[in-house]
Amino acid sequence: MRIAMIGTGYVGLVSGACLADFGHHVTCVDNDAAKIEALRGGAIPIFEPGLDVLVASNAKAGRLSFTTDLPAAVGEADAVFIAVGTPSRRGDGHADLSYVYAAAREIAGALRDFTVVITKSTVPVGTGDEVERLILEANPAADIVVASNPEFLREGAAIRDFKFPDRIVVGTDDERARKLIGEIYRPLSLNQGPLMFTGRRTAELIKYAANAFLATKITFINEIADLAEKVGADVQEVARGIGMDNRIGPKFLHAGPGFGGSCFPKDTRAILKIAQDHDVPLRIIEAVLAVNDTRKRAMARKVSNALGGSLRGKTVALLGLTFKPDTDDMREAPSIPLVTGLKDMGAQVRAYDPAGMEQARQELPDIDYCDDPYSCAQDADALVIVTEWVQFRALDLAKLKDVLRQPVVVDLRNIYRPEQMAAHGFIYESIGRGT
Ligand code: UGA
Repeated sequence: MRIAMIGTGYVGLVSGACLADFGHHVTCVDNDAAKIEALRGGAIPIFEPGLDVLVASNAKAGRLSFTTDLPAAVGEADAVFIAVGTPSRRGDGHADLSYVYAAAREIAGALRDFTVVITKSTVPVGTGDEVERLILEANPAADIVVASNPEFLREGAAIRDFKFPDRIVVGTDDERARKLIGEIYRPLSLNQGPLMFTGRRTAELIKYAANAFLATKITFINEIADLAEKVGADVQEVARGIGMDNRIGPKFLHAGPGFGGSCFPKDTRAILKIAQDHDVPLRIIEAVLAVNDTRKRAMARKVSNALGGSLRGKTVALLGLTFKPDTDDMREAPSIPLVTGLKDMGAQVRAYDPAGMEQARQELPDIDYCDDPYSCAQDADALVIVTEWVQFRALDLAKLKDVLRQPVVVDLRNIYRPEQMAAHGFIYESIGRGT
């Protein structure tokens, strides 16, 4: 099978490399010549565990290549994936589809034989119809089917998610396309990955509904955490207790500083816009977004409370800046409103992150960056664990207490146990543990 992958961002690069690893011939296309040149030289523009090795081995085997020449890649492809970005449009929260439509127009002129064009980017319901219309408008003789195949990869676990998916959703009613896409994913049936065939619009909605549901689950447990703090309960145990009910499930019930990243905030905003356009109020999702925004901003107050209510003249050390571990991604990270809040309240802020400091410097230029957790904590009045990197789970607590000016730890990810921290003499605040 010959595949063209348009867009070498996060989704395109991971999907392209994994499909090549299945044995397909994949050509990744991007109009950013410098990026393609770098990829050819083996440089991976994103931080994703295992991706460098996967790209290198498949490139070496001749199954994975990189080009700026879209017509050449599309012309020889059986399937063309559109995996370009769909950022939030400035001002109105709608997904910006200009890259998707530009790709569709370019693809149209390069098509030869029967080709399945597959949207992998997260796109509003009805985008597949428009992609099909644009292609046929530009090239009325084109023999194509446009299908939707949304991705459900998590940053930091993307390769595992691709190779061991809970499901693969394929939206098209066309039998030729179903057969071809089934063939593309055939290696996954060995891993018991179930293929779900459905209509194109349904597939597009599944993607948004999945992310909105997960964002809701997180926000739900975050609010329960606030209640647990007040009533003297432990949210971790509550999550375990409800999660053992199969109808609820144990995942995505980890209370924290609010969700961030490139997907949940953008996609919840986008589904709300789609719903507004169709006059369907989605009040639960509206509330999820509002609660999450408020929560992220409230984290600075939590730190200030741990230090007696004032941050003036205090130094606060942050461990972890990225929106979650195993990524360098700072998009909508809870650390951003946290830093703003801390500085507004008069604190000096310094930080350490294992992989995100370069990106963080652009978002947060006015804080001090440190080389490791202990130099970060040196003479600080409080240490705040913002992202649950594995490196922070087994800190030398005695050393930490030694270097801190005040033994105050605010753990926004609940990676330590209150008894353990108390035994080491810390004043320890975490999320939703009022016991
Ligand atoms: C998310 C989805 O999990 C993927 O299935 C989806 O494909 C992807 O968006 C996408 O649409 O592309 P991702 O944003 O990489 O993946 O990261 P998650 O692991 O889902 O975490 C998102 C945010 O939720 C993070 O800020 C994380 O800290 C937070 N979170 C997650 C919690 O606060 N509690 C939890 O229990 C889980």
